[in-house]
Amino acid sequence: MADSQKKLTIIKPDDWHLHLRDHNALRTTVPFACRGFGRGIIMPNLVPPVVTVDLAIKYKQRILANIPDSSSWSPLMVLFLTDLTSPEEIYKAHDSKAIFGAKLYPAGATTNSETGVTDLRKLTKTFEAMEEVGMVLQIHGESTEKGVDIFDREPVFIEKTLKPLVEKFPELKISLEHITTLDSVEYIMNQSDTVYGSITPQHLLFNRNDMLVGGIRPHLFCLPILKRERHQQSLIKAATSGNKKFFLGTDSAPHSKDKKENACGCAGCYSHLSAIELYAEIFDQLNSLDQLENFASKNGPDFYGLPYNDSFITLKKHKWTIPSSIKYMDTTLVPLGADMQLNWQLVQ
Ligand code: DOR
Ligand code: ZN
Repeated sequence: MADSQKKLTIIKPDDWHLHLRDHNALRTTVPFACRGFGRGIIMPNLVPPVVTVDLAIKYKQRILANIPDSSSWSPLMVLFLTDLTSPEEIYKAHDSKAIFGAKLYPAGATTNSETGVTDLRKLTKTFEAMEEVGMVLQIHGESTEKGVDIFDREPVFIEKTLKPLVEKFPELKISLEHITTLDSVEYIMNQSDTVYGSITPQHLLFNRNDMLVGGIRPHLFCLPILKRERHQQSLIKAATSGNKKFFLGTDSAPHSKDKKENACGCAGCYSHLSAIELYAEIFDQLNSLDQLENFASKNGPDFYGLPYNDSFITLKKHKWTIPSSIKYMDTTLVPLGADMQLNWQLVQ
């Protein structure tokens, strides 16, 4: 078949980790979040964070108001855990049917996480409640211990925090979010069926040399930070293998151009202009397009205990170029892979 006629149809994917921000930003971020996806797990690191069910439901209303009429996409809300999150809030979240997880940010680990968790022991009863109702704990897995090198924060977190947590709560469903290292891949593969991991397009497509050799590229700066090539290769292998423990989570995280191209630039890559195509690019390079549906559309719902989407998307082999920037409120946003040529395009 001629390349230009090549098509790939898969069950509609979901994005199990994304940032939409709030208010005016939603006019841009929500329509792009709907592009090619059926559902999205909405990160709660707003200012102030989404720490209660009531706040999550109000935030959901603001998101729903920005979904294009033609879209059937739905936002799956998440609670932001603090030292004070009570078991009662977990039961309320479960009963609400609107909340699909609680996010553990070690305090200060990343953007807007200052009021995150300082001591896991304070949440023993809360994690027990999550185990009881089967709620997913989404973890930003980086150590915030003083002196730990930024490139080692993920493996140190696994050793010192995650392993004891999994031992203490063996039934707790855990998604280690946006994994970046071979250590995480191996850890997840060797765990029982409660521990899964999501993988972003930036960690599949790039490594720290792409970010730092020949000049610093602030639009590739995200947290956890890009690692060396050996780790990138292990993520590619995990994602394209079809292993059910790994699924799609873009961590698409908008910051305006001026906040990225800055003496103290913000962490986050905005990938929603071309998210599914960026993944397709990698799977195609590895001759693994037959595994894209497992990674993007099946492994995530299986872990969350949700049905697959009942519609499909089609990607066609067609060269196109990711825009250099888009308008974002009264400023601009530079997407992940700006000006990069892609070989696959979503048929809208
Ligand atoms: O790069 C990141 N950006 N990592 C995170 O964990 C948070 C996110 C954001 O909210 O901008
Ligand atoms: Zn994130």
